[in-house]
Amino acid sequence: MESKQKLSPDEIKEGVRRRYAEAVSRSGSCCGPNTVTKQKVQDLVEMIGYSPEELRAIPKDAVEHAFGCGNPLAMAVLEPGQTVLDIGSGAGIDVIMAARRVGPSGKVIGLDMTMEMIMRGKDNARRAGLENVEFRLGDAEDMPVEDSSIDWIISNCVINLAPDKDKVFAEVARVLKPGGQVMISDIVTGELPVEVRSSLEAWAGCLGGAIEEDLYLQKMRDAGLVDVEVVDRVVYDAEAVNSFFNGADCGCCGAGEITSALDAYVDQLAGEVASAKIRARKP
Ligand SMILES: C[S@@+](CC[C@H](N)C(=O)[O-])C[C@H]1O[C@@H](n2cnc3c(N)ncnc32)[C@H](O)[C@@H]1O
Repeated sequence: MESKQKLSPDEIKEGVRRRYAEAVSRSGSCCGPNTVTKQKVQDLVEMIGYSPEELRAIPKDAVEHAFGCGNPLAMAVLEPGQTVLDIGSGAGIDVIMAARRVGPSGKVIGLDMTMEMIMRGKDNARRAGLENVEFRLGDAEDMPVEDSSIDWIISNCVINLAPDKDKVFAEVARVLKPGGQVMISDIVTGELPVEVRSSLEAWAGCLGGAIEEDLYLQKMRDAGLVDVEVVDRVVYDAEAVNSFFNGADCGCCGAGEITSALDAYVDQLAGEVASAKIRARKP
């Protein structure tokens, strides 16, 4: 594990960017461009919450490179014609699902700070035959998105990766239209050992930067969002923590490469780490 010194925001962002550029570029048995392993599909259905039917309708590459920790669209009622922003859109799985729901009169913007993800998202949207999507390279803390322009914000396992979550939620409040809605899937946690908080590996694996659920909700309220509540929560037991962070099939958050550094903490983290689905609204 890396040194216990505090990581700087730039170190975190660079480490996160490198991690996801590598995860989406990985080829071979688990992340080949034209294959989806049974294990990956099983993880996405059992741990993340997509249905097998939903996954069958998505280009294989977007499924194989899905690195989320929930399915924010499971509880978001999108309507035709709406504009959706997916913060940290990755290889595009949720962008593609959302684009089909809002239809040709609607639009989905995928925002990601990793160029390799942007390119892959574009490829996958093209494979899905979608024209109502746009991918933008940018930081969730300073989004290249117009004020009051978005009906729905979705995000899947991304905000935990941002060093300044207050800035992210301020941006969420800025870009939403009045009445605009939010559905986020993200990792929340209890107290974390300092070794985990100060590990770049753990940050990039969606753990080191995760914060407590109450604090997460308070930050959303402080940004001016209302009706902030957790609508679903999956608490990870030791087995889930282990497979979540040491998954052999490029699982949640691109796991598969973290392994030994976090092994010592699996038992301690069991019951402390959860994937939460959080909704909110701009008044
Ligand atoms: C765990 S992956 C999830 C990807 C996608 N949401 C999914 O469900 O497959 C996190 C993604 O967020 C992006 N990301 C991390 N921090 C970000 C930030 N501050 N701004 C924009 N994108 C960010 C990463 O590049 C990566 O694509």
